[in-house]
Amino acid sequence: MRVVSGMRPTGRLHLGHYFGVIRNWVQLQEEHECFFFIADWHALTTAYKNTKELRKNIIEVMIDWLALGLRPNKSVLFIQSLVKEHAELCLLFGMLTPKSWLELNPTYKDLKYNLLKLSDLEKDFKEKLRDKIENILNLIPFNIHNPDKFREHLLENLTETLIEALFEGEIEPEILKKLNVSKRDFYETDTFGFLGYPVLQTADILIYKGEAVPVGEDQLPHIEFSREIARRFNKLYGKVFPEPKALLTETPKIPGTDGRKMSKSYGNAVFFSDTKEEVERKVMKMFTDPQKLRKNDPGRPEICPVFAWHKLFTKEKELIDGIEIDCKAGKLGCVECKRLLLSHVEAFLEPIRERRRELEQRINEIEDIFYANSKRAREVAKSTMEEVKKAMNLP
Ligand code: TRP
Repeated sequence: MRVVSGMRPTGRLHLGHYFGVIRNWVQLQEEHECFFFIADWHALTTAYKNTKELRKNIIEVMIDWLALGLRPNKSVLFIQSLVKEHAELCLLFGMLTPKSWLELNPTYKDLKYNLLKLSDLEKDFKEKLRDKIENILNLIPFNIHNPDKFREHLLENLTETLIEALFEGEIEPEILKKLNVSKRDFYETDTFGFLGYPVLQTADILIYKGEAVPVGEDQLPHIEFSREIARRFNKLYGKVFPEPKALLTETPKIPGTDGRKMSKSYGNAVFFSDTKEEVERKVMKMFTDPQKLRKNDPGRPEICPVFAWHKLFTKEKELIDGIEIDCKAGKLGCVECKRLLLSHVEAFLEPIRERRRELEQRINEIEDIFYANSKRAREVAKSTMEEVKKAMNLP
């Protein structure tokens, strides 16, 4: 079975990436022909304004992938933008994609909706800042040429800075929680590129004739989309492509330290690059059952993120059962429970941290590996493009 999947390079990887998809990839590479790539073009569909960190982020992903057990001699590990055929196929798919399919895409619809909410947030910020800025302007001891223009300029910039700080988790993430928007929504993404996100993703998969696509649940609409494009293409020009299916992980999702979905923008993630001390601080501050105030109060493990983590990190089933029983009976305090968890989390993370340290010394060599693998991927992509062109009567 041909397996294809990608990941946007948005920075350092955290436990959510591992339990959501990478663990699945590591297993799949043992038995299947796998193509895993860093979707740098997809990163640009949102973060196109600021590409300063792109290269660094790509390297972070390379290091994390290798540290987590992906093997370049088992899977083809490569970089999307080095295989130009993804773009060529994307262009051709664009010709046969009805605009309505894209506009109905849930990610896009959410985005539109969230952009509206964000513009409210922006207005709100601005209004609150207006008086403050007026006061500051009065303090400036020299004449300002065009005070109105100056004030508006300051207002614009400060609002943007504040919203950015908000998304970096520096101020009141509560607001974001209430609005239920994510960092992605903040970028100005009402663009052709973002609208076409699923078309590019479809090209990513079908250029390798991918049959199975191991992804997180949030990606299901995109995979469905790629099936529809494959069907449409095959109907119009003859059968070239398989209809790919999504492969979901069986492991339950790991919640963030505050019980919500683990995400960098919520500030509730544990990263593979975190030091031992950082991990300790994060684990000891984890949310627990809010009704369990004292050590001897009975707890509800089923709603407690610490217990959800125990189920993933604590190896012995009897120990997990024991924790559940003791918590419910009010015999196990949260601090003790977290200490125990911490030791199991560290047993998992420390070897990965060690491998990361080694890999960080060999960045050039690692980049070479990804470049060489991109060439391997390109050979397959080229041969698919030949078939596509033939089917479509392109020269
Ligand atoms: N959209 C995916 C994500 O955000 C990344 C991705 C890009 C992908 N191209 C892909 C996943 C192709 C699977 C197949 O996680």
